[in-house]
Amino acid sequence: MARKYRIAVLAGDGVGCEVVPEALKVLRAVEEVSSLNFEFINVDGGATYWLKTGRREEWPPEAYSICRESDAVLFGAVGIPGVCYPDGTSVGNKVIFGLRFGLDLYANVRPVKLYEGVPCPLVGRRPGDVDFVIVRENTEDLYVPIRGFLERGEARELAIDVRVVTRKGAERVIRYAFELCRRRRGAPIDGRRRVTCIDKSNVLRGCLFFRQVFNEVAGNYPDIERDYAYVDAFTQWIITKPERYDVCVTTNMFGDIVTDLTSVLQGGMGMAPSGEIGDGKAMFEPVHGTAPDIAGKGIANPIATILSAKMMLEWLGDKYGDSSAKIGASRIEEAVRRVLAEGRVRTPDLGGTSRTSEVGDAVASMVKQVA
Ligand code: NAI
Ligand code: MG
Repeated sequence: MARKYRIAVLAGDGVGCEVVPEALKVLRAVEEVSSLNFEFINVDGGATYWLKTGRREEWPPEAYSICRESDAVLFGAVGIPGVCYPDGTSVGNKVIFGLRFGLDLYANVRPVKLYEGVPCPLVGRRPGDVDFVIVRENTEDLYVPIRGFLERGEARELAIDVRVVTRKGAERVIRYAFELCRRRRGAPIDGRRRVTCIDKSNVLRGCLFFRQVFNEVAGNYPDIERDYAYVDAFTQWIITKPERYDVCVTTNMFGDIVTDLTSVLQGGMGMAPSGEIGDGKAMFEPVHGTAPDIAGKGIANPIATILSAKMMLEWLGDKYGDSSAKIGASRIEEAVRRVLAEGRVRTPDLGGTSRTSEVGDAVASMVKQVA
C-alpha cells in the first residue's frame, strides 16, 4: 500500500497565495503518474489573517498543531510592508518563527543551481558551473529573542540584539552540511567534495566558536575537503568563482543575506527554493518573501516554490525510504528543466510574458510526459 502523506499548506500573504497553488498543481500531477498520495490541509496565517481577525491573532489556534502533526509543511511567504506592531516589527513573524522554533528546524537548506534557459548575470557561466548549496543555521545567532529597546523619558535611546552561537546549534547544522556533501557529486570545478565554513572569525567570538566546532565536526569526515571564507570576502568569491563551491555552512544572519545574493546567480528570487529541516520535521518554502511590488498581478514565478515541493518529496523519500517519493522529486526537477530549456513559458522575471498559472500548467503537464 502506498503511503498517504499529509501536507500542511500555509500559503500566507502576497505572492505566497499565487505560487503555492502552482506547486500543489504539480504535486497532483506527480500523484497521477505514481503511487503517491497527498492530503493537503490548508492552514491560515500571516498579515492578511491578522487584519481579518481584527488585529488579534496571526494564525488560528489549531494551526500550529496541524503543522506539527503533518508529514511536512509547504509554506509560501508572510508579511505585508506597513502591517506592523506598534514597535515596528512585522506581523507574520509569529507564524514563521513559531514553526522554525516550535518544530526546531535548525538547517535552512538553500540550493543554488543554474538551469539552461535561465539568464545568469555572470558572463560566460553555463548550467553546471553554478551548483552549490548554502546551509544556514536557522534557530540562533541574531534570531534568538534576546533583544529590546531602552526608552527613557519618552525617547528611544538604545536598541540591543544579542548574537548567540551554541555548541548544539553549530554542531548539528555543520554535521548536516557534511552529510549533505557526502550525498552530492562535489564542486563543478574539480568534482571534489568540499564544505566551506563562512564566518567572520577574525573578529567575532561567536564566529571563532562556530569555526572551532566546524573543525571538530570536519574531523569525522576525512573524505571531504575543509574550506574557509570570511563572509565579506565570500561575497566576492561566490561571484568570481561560483564553480569552486559545493556545500557552504554559516550562521543565521550571514546565511540570510548571502542567499539573497546567491539567488541572483540562479536567475533571481523566483528561482530559489529552500527546505527548513530538523530531526524528523521539515518545512519547505521559496526563499523569497511576499513580493508586494508584483503581488496580485499573476506574474510571480512559481518555480522556487515548485522546486521547494521537489525538495519536500526528496526529504519524505529519505525519511520513509520511499523510492516513489524520490522518483517524484526527480520528475519535478526534470519537468522544470525541460520547461525552462524550451523557453516558451516563463514569467517576466526570466524575460518571458507568461503568467504564474501558465508556468504551473506547463510544469504539471511536463511531469506527466517525463513519467
Ligand atoms: P521579496 O523576496 O518579497 O522581494 C524581493 C524582490 O524579488 C522583489 O522585487 C520581488 O518582486 C522579487 N520576487 C520575489 N519573489 C518573486 C517571484 N516569485 N517571482 C518574481 N519575482 C519575485 O522581499 P522583500 O521585498 O524584502 O519583502 C517583502 C515582504 O515579504 C516583507 O513584508 C517581508 O517581511 C516579507 N518576507 C517574508 C519572508 C518569508 O515569509 N519567509 C521572507 C522574506 C521576506
Ligand atoms: Mg531573507
